Amino acid sequence: MAYETILTEVQNSVLVITLNREDKLNALNKTVFDELTLAIDELYTNHTLKGAVITGKGTRAFAAGADISEFTGLDAEGARKLAKRGQDLFFRLERSPKPIVAAVNGFALGGGCELAMACHMRISGETAKFGQPEVNLGIIPGYGGTQRMTQLVGKGRAFELLMTGKMINGAEAYRIGLVNQLGHNDTLVDTAIEIIESIAAKAPLAIGYVVDSINAVYEDGVDGYQTEIDGFAACTLTTDFKEGASAFLEKRKANFQGK
Ligand code: COA
Repeated sequence: MAYETILTEVQNSVLVITLNREDKLNALNKTVFDELTLAIDELYTNHTLKGAVITGKGTRAFAAGADISEFTGLDAEGARKLAKRGQDLFFRLERSPKPIVAAVNGFALGGGCELAMACHMRISGETAKFGQPEVNLGIIPGYGGTQRMTQLVGKGRAFELLMTGKMINGAEAYRIGLVNQLGHNDTLVDTAIEIIESIAAKAPLAIGYVVDSINAVYEDGVDGYQTEIDGFAACTLTTDFKEGASAFLEKRKANFQGK
């Protein structure tokens, strides 16, 4: 599909989504949200896709945040809708049964950092720049940043990053657990695709239950241990479970079907 603010291509059955507003450091405007929503719908519905990589066009930015030009005249009601829209999309990423990896190739600030945090994993170069600088603008993160930053790096570091609005580089982000893996900027997407391919070799339904169970840790009113029991039990009903166990005993590689 042809988009205005993102590019999509399929590489090795992985959907590569590139934020494509290089002159605005890939800032996330309303159209980006609409188009990202469609791209993620495609990930959910196209059964040939193994997962998705999200990255930014150019060498400078993954995404330098929500598009600040759209903040003009924003009132409380509009802000609620904007935040809800962003959060709904980012939940959809986080809850995807197929892996989504952010390949952070530069600035990941504000909504850009929140987008990266909503992906299952983040890889970046050492010089990438992460931060939640919203307090410089007189606001706070609205796309789940207060929650996911705390989940990923802990309360003390989340307070530090969100209260100071400071930027940290990729090496520091890796050190504190915000980034899963460091790589070279020019091969980040390839590395992300390799990660997704390695996950796609596992039983897909089991991967989906892993996603549900880990997300359950953070969902109010959901008993994550019970979610795990349910997922564990559901796995035993799959053909892939029988295949996985048989393949192990027969000392061969499992051939999973996602059934
Ligand atoms: N929203 C809208 N436009 C943005 C943007 C954003 N979040 N971030 C960068 N841009 C635009 C700039 O306005 C500029 O556009 P112009 O060339 O038409 O003037 C262009 O991207 C390049 O940015 P510029 O500020 O000139 O680059 P820089 O190298 O001097 O600074 C940053 C880079 C990332 C430090 C700086 O752009 C910045 O602070 N951006 C805002 C980050 C932010 O607060 N994000 C959270 C938003 S809630």
